[in-house]
Amino acid sequence: MRIGMLTSGGDCQALNATMRGVAKALYKMYEDVEIVGFEDGYKGLIYADYHIMKPSDFSGILTKGGTILGTSRQPFKQMRVPDESGLDKVEAMKHTYRKLKLECLVVLGGNGSQKTANLLREEGLNIVSLPKTIDNDLWGTDMTFGFQSAVNIATNAIDCIHTTAASHGRVFIVEVMGHKVGWLTLHAGLAGGADIILLPEIPYDLDVIVEALKERNRQGKRFSILAVAEGAISKEDAALSKKELKEKKKNSVSYPSIAYEIGAQITERTGQEVRVTVPGHMQRGGEPCAYDRVLATRLGAAAAKLIQEKKYGYMVAVKNDEITSVPLEEVAGRLKMVDPNCSVIQEAKLIGISFGDE
Ligand code: F6P
Repeated sequence: MRIGMLTSGGDCQALNATMRGVAKALYKMYEDVEIVGFEDGYKGLIYADYHIMKPSDFSGILTKGGTILGTSRQPFKQMRVPDESGLDKVEAMKHTYRKLKLECLVVLGGNGSQKTANLLREEGLNIVSLPKTIDNDLWGTDMTFGFQSAVNIATNAIDCIHTTAASHGRVFIVEVMGHKVGWLTLHAGLAGGADIILLPEIPYDLDVIVEALKERNRQGKRFSILAVAEGAISKEDAALSKKELKEKKKNSVSYPSIAYEIGAQITERTGQEVRVTVPGHMQRGGEPCAYDRVLATRLGAAAAKLIQEKKYGYMVAVKNDEITSVPLEEVAGRLKMVDPNCSVIQEAKLIGISFGDE
C-alpha cells in the first residue's frame, strides 16, 4: 500500500512531529506500507517531485522545526489556472496520484491547503488532512499544531520587551502574526502581560488607546506595552469597503505595517516615545513546544487510523481535548475567528486590559 504525504503553505513547528506520528502509526499497522514524500507541498504533486521515504526518515524528527519535505505556497485561486507552460495543475496532481497508485494523500496544511485538499477530494482522490498553522484559524478544530509553540515565542518577545520598556519608560508595540485573526495576539498578549491588545476581530478607536495610555501615566506607570495583531484595523477603516480602503491607503502616508502606523499616531497624539518590534517569522521557527509535540503525535496517529478505516475526505481535529475528524467540505473556506464576546476577552477586560474598543 502506498500513501502520499505533503506539507503545504507556511511552515510551522510540529510539522515533522506530525508526519512522524502518521508514519509511525502506519508502519505499525501495515507491514507493506510505503510512504511517498512530495517535495515543497502541492508543487511536488503537480510536477511529480517526490521520493520514497524510509522509516528512518521519521526518526529523530519529533523536536525538529520546519519540514523535512519542504513547503511552498500554491494559492488555491491559482489551482485552476494553467501554469506558464499551459499545464493543468489539477489534472497533473491527479495524474501523479494515479501513476503512483496511491491509496491516499495525507496533507498537512492551513486554510488554503485545506481548500485544495477539498478540491482534490471532489476530484475523486482519497484525502486525509491535518490542521497546521500558527494562526489557529482553521474551522472545525479547537487547536492547530504550531499555535502553542508560536504563542510561546511571541510571549517571550513581549517578556523581553517588558524589561526594556520598564527601564526606559517608553511605549512599546509588539506586532504579532496571525494573518486575519487574533488568536496568537490574544494569547501571547495575555501571557506576556500586555496592557493593550488589538485584534482584527475588535476594530480599535485611537481615542480609546490614547486614553488608556494616559490613564496608565496618571497611575504612575512608566511604560505601556501594546500587543498588536498584524491584521488589526481601526473602526474607521473597518467601516470602509475594500475598494474605499485601498483608495484611502493609496492617498495616505504608507507604513511598513499596522504597528508602525499606530506607533506614529500615538506619538503624534501624546508626544510619547514609541518603539515597534516585529518578531515576524521567528514565531514559526525552532522546535515545537511540549503541547504541540503531544498534539502532533495524537493527530498523526488519528490520521493513520482514518486511513486504516478508509475514512477519506476528513481533517483530523481536536474538540474538548478529544481527537475527532471533520468533513473537508465543512472546513474548506471557513475561518475560525476570535469571538469578541468570548470569556477570555471578558476576563482580560476584568483585569483592565484594553482592547481599544471601549
Ligand atoms: O499563516 C501563517 C503566517 O505566518 C501568518 O501568520 C502570516 O500572515 C503569513 O503566514 C506570512 O506568510 P509568508 O511566510 O508567506 O510571509
